[in-house]
Amino acid sequence: MENKWFLPLILSLFMAVLSLAAAAKPVLLPPIFILGDSTADIGTNNFLPGSKARADFPHNGIDFPNSPRPTGRFSNGLNSADFLAQHFGYKRSPRPFLSLSATSLQKKKFRGINFASGGSGVLDITGQTLLTRNVPFGASFNNQKNVIPLTEQIRQFSSVKNNLMAKMGAAATEKFLSKSLIFISSGSNDLFGYYHSNSSIPKEEFLSSLVLAYENHLKTLYTLGARKFGIISVAPIGCCPSQRIFNATGGCLEELNDHAIAFHLKLDALLCKLSTEHEGFKYSLGNSYEMTINVIQNPLPFNFTQVEAACCGAGKLGGESFCTPDANLCSNRDQYLFWDLFHPTQAASKLAAVTLYYGGPQFVSPINFAQLPEA
Ligand SMILES: *[C@@H]1O[C@H](CO)[C@@H](O)[C@H](O)[C@H]1NC(C)=O
Ligand SMILES: *[C@@H]1O[C@H](CO)[C@@H](O)[C@H](O)[C@H]1NC(C)=O
Ligand SMILES: *[C@@H]1O[C@H](CO)[C@@H](O)[C@H](O)[C@H]1NC(C)=O
Repeated sequence: MENKWFLPLILSLFMAVLSLAAAAKPVLLPPIFILGDSTADIGTNNFLPGSKARADFPHNGIDFPNSPRPTGRFSNGLNSADFLAQHFGYKRSPRPFLSLSATSLQKKKFRGINFASGGSGVLDITGQTLLTRNVPFGASFNNQKNVIPLTEQIRQFSSVKNNLMAKMGAAATEKFLSKSLIFISSGSNDLFGYYHSNSSIPKEEFLSSLVLAYENHLKTLYTLGARKFGIISVAPIGCCPSQRIFNATGGCLEELNDHAIAFHLKLDALLCKLSTEHEGFKYSLGNSYEMTINVIQNPLPFNFTQVEAACCGAGKLGGESFCTPDANLCSNRDQYLFWDLFHPTQAASKLAAVTLYYGGPQFVSPINFAQLPEA
């Protein structure tokens, strides 16, 4: 008789406890660290007074959500770093390292940092040497910093780790970093630099040295405790407005695109190797080349009507100058693939992030970014 009620009671109590536990447990978003170049920079270079690689002036930011303003992003609004962070539950990208003080690193709610610096590359020399205007950013002519190379971004990451260790101890820091997602978007500027310097180094040799440098960066990050990597390879950069102007027909610069394809293949092989050699190394590699060429060849399903010219710029295809206050500006910005002579619009960045997050193996492999936290 009593037993008849006992089981349901226990069950409902059990369910109540379960749902209480579910309600009380805060949703723990994975911490996010972002490294790379202008495709992910959300204002790092604003803190480099001598840098030429800046976008903290109009018309940049004209569509920035809520209060349109230039933020340092090379975009009319948000960029891929922001949209990726949104998929993981954040409002937008974590803040730039250079905007943080030691005390803000001590905050309880610390969930990540953005180190990305426009104009930087995988190689230290990229963004530092004097190149032509065909390359995103030339040198600074004084000894003030132009960009923050990946090596230094990783040094900054290491200093953050030291901060975390001081705050929560070694074991908790190790756990925190092993659950963190490390996004890296780099390589385009190295390929621009190589191509436009008319280097006598053979392509194969250059790409091998580039991927070797990438390998060293990843190994350093692994040694520091990073385990989950979301890597974004190089888009068909020969199709940027700034590069199309070197093609008499306005088509893409095929040689530069070939470099991007070759770089992706080498990166794919490298990541596969690292994951077999290093316990717990997990990765997701986004094929920006495939993602973007797919849109360029068939733009209408994605609601793009202009995939060759820059929305903000000047000269042929808007590809002859940066987006400055007196550059031409398009009105239908969501229909443009390119914001300026090198960078995607907010709409294009949003599409890229969706594809990285949910995409199938054609675009992101061996798993997509959504699968990375549980990998
Ligand atoms: C590379 O070669 C092209 C074509 O010959 C030339 O226009 C350009 O100025 C050269 N660039 C550099 C950096 O030497
Ligand atoms: C220029 O674009 C055309 C397509 O319009 C392409 O066939 C050609 O290979 C391109 N030239 C170079 C130098 O990349
Ligand atoms: C394209 O625009 C239409 C109409 O605004 C919208 O319904 C559709 O979802 C858009 N497609 C994409 C891929 O954004």
